[in-house]
Amino acid sequence: MPYVTEQNLTDVVRERWQAVPDPRLREVMASFIKHVHGFVREIQPTQAEWATAIDFLTRIGKKCDDKRQEFILFSDVMGVSMLIDALNNRLESGATPTTVEGPFHVPNAPAIADGGNMAEKCPGIPCFITGTVRGLDGRPVANASLDLWQTDGEGLYEAQRDVTEPWMRGLFHSKPDGSYSVRTVAPIGYSIPMDGPIGDLVKHTEVSEMRPAHIHFCIEAPGYHRVVTHLFQRGCPYIETDVVYGVKAPLIVDFVEHPPGIAPNGDKIDTKFYTIAYDFVLQPKAQAAAA
Ligand code: BEZ
Ligand code: FE
Repeated sequence: MPYVTEQNLTDVVRERWQAVPDPRLREVMASFIKHVHGFVREIQPTQAEWATAIDFLTRIGKKCDDKRQEFILFSDVMGVSMLIDALNNRLESGATPTTVEGPFHVPNAPAIADGGNMAEKCPGIPCFITGTVRGLDGRPVANASLDLWQTDGEGLYEAQRDVTEPWMRGLFHSKPDGSYSVRTVAPIGYSIPMDGPIGDLVKHTEVSEMRPAHIHFCIEAPGYHRVVTHLFQRGCPYIETDVVYGVKAPLIVDFVEHPPGIAPNGDKIDTKFYTIAYDFVLQPKAQAAAA
């Protein structure tokens, strides 16, 4: 075995890490060693800088618990979450694109009838979302599940509120003609959590910490590719600089403002309210390049 030098060290390590029976793990480790050594050779950190990097990763780990995942936030802010999403959701043009799930989804949302309100007692401007769920062939998809979650009108998710009942989330289903109808309140743009190491990193930059106003959807129907996505408010000031790179043009929608009156679900509203119209298009499973 050769003794290591600056010049041969990367090759010596790669050679040693060939001894991995699982072919995928062997491939992953070979690539990891190549790129991490390349990164270190390029930036040539001092010992103190490397200690700072180790401390940064340690602080990320210490910030994680049942409710908080700072490593996912790191992946989000570096655009890696969106890259993984893109690689795993190569959909046909015309299908509703996916975007990052984010950390605020809570499983087992309460089932809500068509046109029902997922924002009872939550602050914000009433907002009504209507549309259809269809396949790429234009046929309605009946009984698709639409799991929605979002901030309230003050920019806070359930996990950020001291609540015991579900907050700003609900499970809806499309009707036999593929239509769906949701009552909620309009979300607003919000900052990613800035009280941890990722926030500290962002504060050393001129990168915006804001996400544009959006509503999360997870749409599932048997035989169709599952779509985790958002609808973004057109005109929101953060739309061009989303800190997690989640915005895609087909997901930007108008929040149409109305004076007090009768809403699309028949509710009488005595304040201004918004309507959003959006038709989701699902791709049959066999057609998805990567499931
Ligand atoms: C979200 O949209 O909920 C989100 C996504 C990535 C990081 C933080 C929040
Ligand atoms: Fe969000």
